[in-house]
Amino acid sequence: MKITVVGAGNVGATLAQRLVDRELANEVVLTDVVEGLPQGKGLDMLESSPVVGSDVRVAGANDYDATAGSDIIVITAGIARKPGMSRDDLLSTNAGVLKSVTEQVAPRSPKSIIVVVSNPLDVMVYVALKVSGFDRNRVIGMAGVLDTARFRSFIAAELNVSVEDVQAFVLGGHGDSMVPLVRYTSVAGIPLTELMPADKIEAMVKRTRQGGAEIVGLLKTGSAYYAPSAAVVQMVESMVKDKKRILPCSVYLQGEYGMKDVVIGVPVKLGRKGMEQVVEIKLTDSEKAELTKSAEDVKANMAKVKFS
Ligand code: LAC
Repeated sequence: MKITVVGAGNVGATLAQRLVDRELANEVVLTDVVEGLPQGKGLDMLESSPVVGSDVRVAGANDYDATAGSDIIVITAGIARKPGMSRDDLLSTNAGVLKSVTEQVAPRSPKSIIVVVSNPLDVMVYVALKVSGFDRNRVIGMAGVLDTARFRSFIAAELNVSVEDVQAFVLGGHGDSMVPLVRYTSVAGIPLTELMPADKIEAMVKRTRQGGAEIVGLLKTGSAYYAPSAAVVQMVESMVKDKKRILPCSVYLQGEYGMKDVVIGVPVKLGRKGMEQVVEIKLTDSEKAELTKSAEDVKANMAKVKFS
């Protein structure tokens, strides 16, 4: 198992470290355009391996030849938000980054699964899908696991219970119109609606929608990376170990949920082949309307990307 992480910034480097610590690959390659940065971080991680007891061979590189033959490629490259910016403000810069990265990595690892983390997430998945020419089951975006983790952490803190017992679902695009599904959210099987008044739940839904911006506002110089990298690890683990977990991920829809030609967050089964199934759950009319609205927002941004 060889995993490449493109982008040695906060998300990429933290992710590589988590992959090394958890021995989720035999080899991890960290790449970046900045000279010395991926090599330095990679070597530092390698030198941590005797202490953490990890036999992962980790190294950094500036050239893409080092990524050849990867099983999984995680793309974190691109610029991050500054306070006051929306994810959509990153579109034209990061679409260019995604195009050039995908053109480099896809031919060198033609059988790989690409996991996209760069923002605006759903549109960047679409760019990687188009440019790689891969089947949709091998181009998957990380957003739902992160958004769900935020929602779950708020619920656990509010109820003073273990985060492990909180199950939640957040669907839709990774933007302000994401759709936290309260009806499918439970604590040890007990519906959330029985444990908390509606106004409290609504406040947490709002905080989840703005979860990324809350971190950007505090950090001021970049966006979140601990929770995003942890979320990617959960997806990678499900694929590497063929666990077939059902996780909310951003994928290209071909008729599921009554939608076509749009990339959006839905529950999917993740296994060794990547996205092995889109799991369709029943939605109420208002949930459907929210998901459709979120899809329209993503589609409008997809239309802004120029491919030639
Ligand atoms: C966030 C950014 C990474 O949600 O999209 O934190």
